[in-house]
Amino acid sequence: MARREEQKKILCVGLVCLDIISVVEEFPREDSDSRCLSQRWQRGGNASNSCTVLSLLGSPCAFMGSLCAGPVASFILEDFQKFRVDASLLRKRGGAAPTSIVISNHGTGSRTIVHANSNIAEVTSEDFDAVDLSAFKWIHWEGRNADEQVKMMARVERHNQTVAPEQRIVVSVEIEKPREELYRLFPCADVVFASKDVARHLGFGTPADALRGLRPRLRPGAVLICAWAEQGADAADGDGTPLHSDAFPPERLLDTLGAGDTFNAAVIHRLAGGAPLREALTFGCKVAGAKCGFHGYDDIARAALD
Ligand code: FRU
Repeated sequence: MARREEQKKILCVGLVCLDIISVVEEFPREDSDSRCLSQRWQRGGNASNSCTVLSLLGSPCAFMGSLCAGPVASFILEDFQKFRVDASLLRKRGGAAPTSIVISNHGTGSRTIVHANSNIAEVTSEDFDAVDLSAFKWIHWEGRNADEQVKMMARVERHNQTVAPEQRIVVSVEIEKPREELYRLFPCADVVFASKDVARHLGFGTPADALRGLRPRLRPGAVLICAWAEQGADAADGDGTPLHSDAFPPERLLDTLGAGDTFNAAVIHRLAGGAPLREALTFGCKVAGAKCGFHGYDDIARAALD
């Protein structure tokens, strides 16, 4: 039985898109015409990036999100395969693939994103009803279409009431964008990742204030995690005990694209493996910090060992 539980995957539900990344020596002036140092296509989207990192860290994982047919879809599918992410739960939609143009500044490591959402239809609770929950030990949602996502999470909750405690699925959610409708997701998860932007939008100026102030929005016993860029990350355990990890910046900031998604994945990887929250928080900060020192995600596994 224990072995079977170990083989279960982590599912991430959210966005997959194409990132067209131009690495520049310095940020271009408006209305100028310059050359970049390099350009690449990369599979992007928070949930999709977190899958990449989970897989590289050794957690078997699957992605669920929407995808449109065409050359971009072929690239994305191949890339999921390359990183051994199970993409069998992708929902095929009409229209164009969501795409981000990203200017990655080699000098500072900053990433400037201009995202085209393309109005692709999101995954619905009806789509999610067809998912065989027994394949998963953890399901992570990137907060997007909250009305539907609340229903999906309620399905997992109902499922959890019918199975033995060791078979219960842990639910986590990322509330990254400061949008009121997403705040409905706070009480729906066991582990909540709230961004600095969200904390600030709700009036909390420090991580400690955020942990205290957001607590009433959570379900009893839930864990709250709040990453705060170069100040590291803070978390509160189910009983409200506050924890902190410093950031682990690389020698030179090269690429911060997806650093938050890397942090979430690294924390989930450790928690799903049974580590205490303090250890998972520090690991998240270490892996996310190391990731900012190289382009893309390929070196994640090495970074996690250092
Ligand atoms: C990084 C990212 C990119 C994507 C953008 C969407 O966190 O997921 O891969 O283009 O954010 O907002």
